[in-house]
Amino acid sequence: GKIRHYRWEVKYEYKSPDCYKKLVISINGRTPGPTIEAEQNDTVVVELKNSLLTENVAIHWHGIRQIGTPWFDGTEGVTQCPILPGDTFVYKFVVDRPGTYLYHAHYGMPREAGLYGLIRVALPPGVSEPFSYDYDRSIILNDWYHKSTYEQATGLSSIPFGWVGEPQSLLIHGKGSFNCSTPGIQSGLCNATNPECSPYVLTVVPGKTYRLRIASLTALSALSFQIEGHNMTVVETDGHYVEPFVVKNLFIYSGETYSVLITADQDPSRNYWAVTNVVSRNSTTPNGLAIFNYYPNHPKRSPPTVPPAGPVWNDVDSRLAQSLAIRARQGYIHPPPQTSDRVIVMLNTQNRINGHVRWSVNNVSFNLPHTPYLIALKHKLGHVFDQTPPPDGYDFVNYDIFIQQPNVNATFSNSIYRLAFNSTVDIILQNANTMNPNNSETHPWHLHGHDFWVMGHGEGKFDMYSDPQKYNLVDPIMKNTVAVQPYGWTAMRFRADNPGVWAFHCHIESHFYMGMGVVFEEGIDKVGELPTSIMGCGDTRGGTFHKP
Ligand code: C2O
Ligand code: CU
Repeated sequence: GKIRHYRWEVKYEYKSPDCYKKLVISINGRTPGPTIEAEQNDTVVVELKNSLLTENVAIHWHGIRQIGTPWFDGTEGVTQCPILPGDTFVYKFVVDRPGTYLYHAHYGMPREAGLYGLIRVALPPGVSEPFSYDYDRSIILNDWYHKSTYEQATGLSSIPFGWVGEPQSLLIHGKGSFNCSTPGIQSGLCNATNPECSPYVLTVVPGKTYRLRIASLTALSALSFQIEGHNMTVVETDGHYVEPFVVKNLFIYSGETYSVLITADQDPSRNYWAVTNVVSRNSTTPNGLAIFNYYPNHPKRSPPTVPPAGPVWNDVDSRLAQSLAIRARQGYIHPPPQTSDRVIVMLNTQNRINGHVRWSVNNVSFNLPHTPYLIALKHKLGHVFDQTPPPDGYDFVNYDIFIQQPNVNATFSNSIYRLAFNSTVDIILQNANTMNPNNSETHPWHLHGHDFWVMGHGEGKFDMYSDPQKYNLVDPIMKNTVAVQPYGWTAMRFRADNPGVWAFHCHIESHFYMGMGVVFEEGIDKVGELPTSIMGCGDTRGGTFHKP
């Protein structure tokens, strides 16, 4: 493969992605940042200069498995120390599979300030996709807050709790439109005619077929995406080919990517709306709008119609139906192991711990140690984190997932799951009622360092005897991010075959911040010598591990 070299400078700038001016974090002046374009088996080198002045950073390459380079996963506290202001850090990794991936900040909450982008990995020349299209395009969907990430994070960790609330707008490829005449908006901060917030335009030639890669990096929202008057055929997700199916609207959760095929086969004399709307929360956030522009109509000409409304926010059945429709494409099936060596059931609950509102897995609310796990484990610094393993299950018999629980018995911990190398592990994510009555949320869980097979989804409490009988052992899709629906469960299977230490967490930024995550270790003895560039914090300060 070739070497793809990028030089990035990360810094704060004033921008108005939704017409409202605020501080954003940009890469080389842009948010979303530049798209990484590579071919399968290329080596990507990113020289990252942190010019944030007072803030640390680390970037995670979401969906890239980092085989042989677990130290470049970009997960602060897990695989590396943060990159200090003024420092330059070099990431170097191989993109071993074609598909659509993401990158984003993975330290505190700066992903929400705009530090994110796409990775597109093409097939090598001469190899073709199992579907055809004329052009390849991509967009990232996001939600957008006007408060700074500092204010949001401080609210989340305060007593009384300060919830971040619903986002102010939805962005389509970095552009949204907040209503500047909203009462209370300081004049001068919001300018509806600022070109930075003119709607994103996707121009198409009549009759042509487009592969549209759609990725979501929302902070909170689950989304529905549609293009007025056009069907979409789903063909890829998270780097794996999907047995094609047609949708009018696509549900997409934070951390997921999809490729859909769209043919520009409608009346070519006009433009159409592309719309995102929030699902799974009764949100006040207005829909995100972009223009699907038929060439040669003017790209800024508004479609003559009212943008289509999305599905109702609480229609869990349609969302579950889409999840169940996603199967591996015939001819590209990676059969899953038919049995597993270990089953871990993870009850997802909202909790109150010493007055703080937190999220927990089996009553353990996650927090990071000050010395990254990868370094602590490799250098046997046992005192760095709690060595008692977290529980493999919860009290299935007595815990009622359907009722509001006081949940005051959870604890904070930084302990981790240690997996036998090469073993097959099943994870069952069990959703439950939150601390509010009649409320259960949607959680998209993302696994670092692996793809997993999606074995099944179901409603209610997972039954250990009957539900595994319904697993898809034939053609399950492989993914790196999967949603768990309200009051439902999702079962996944993966092989612990990638030596390293890997985060597994809810991709909702505030949920992870509030403890909704775990860490897996596998094959630590097979991890090569760690680069000293990942050290410098906690017990690795002062070059403790520098080799002469
Ligand atoms: Cu895209 Cu650990 O996240
Ligand atoms: Cu969550």
